[in-house]
Amino acid sequence: MDLPSFLWLWRIAAWSMGLSLLFYGLLAFSGIRMRSYRQRIRSYDAWLRPFHILSGIVLLALVLGLLAIGIVGTLGEYGTLGHSAHLPIGLLVVGLTLLSAWSATRIGLGEPGARSLHITINLTLLLGFLFVLATGWSVVQKYLPE
Ligand code: HEM
Ligand code: HEM
Repeated sequence: MDLPSFLWLWRIAAWSMGLSLLFYGLLAFSGIRMRSYRQRIRSYDAWLRPFHILSGIVLLALVLGLLAIGIVGTLGEYGTLGHSAHLPIGLLVVGLTLLSAWSATRIGLGEPGARSLHITINLTLLLGFLFVLATGWSVVQKYLPE
């Protein structure tokens, strides 16, 4: 293929990834704030929790959007999936994000250990984001015009 026909799609992927990292940062900020308030005075500003949950929903939507873009673009280009380590790492990131949201519902139910599980998953998710970004960036290179 001589035209970089999917370039616009990968451009959306790059922007979605930037937004994902932004929302990850907002979640880290609001989550850490909730945690330190809870440990010291046992209550925090009323907006923090809904803000954190809404940001979490946005992050989940962005990641699912990236999954859809990745699959549609790859199928459109090759007709098959599985062309690099980007696929397993991408699936891992989607799985971790779903696990994070699931563990958050356990915190809401007051389950012991749910908070530390939520935090562990999210630290792993950060690593996942860095890897998916690096591998996505390297495959994007072959779509760039010379
Ligand atoms: C995937 C979407 C996410 C959802 C739906 C979500 C939701 C929640 C909920 C409901 C709580 C409990 C708040 C409470 O009642 O005290 C919570 C706590 C927390 N979250 Fe998230 N969260 C998400 C992602 C993240 C991410 C990506 C991070 C870190 C970067 C994070 C860090 C934290 C921290 C540090 C706490 C406080 C734990 C504690 O109080 O010990 N969350 N989250
Ligand atoms: C949460 C983030 C992301 C997820 C879940 C994700 C998911 C996927 C998946 C599942 C595929 C199909 C891979 C295959 O079957 O080989 C794919 C392909 C692709 N993704 Fe992503 N992706 C993410 C982020 C990115 C980023 C940040 C970029 C770069 C800007 C990117 C660029 C690409 C490209 C260029 C392909 C085509 C693969 C190829 O030609 O071998 N992705 N993505």
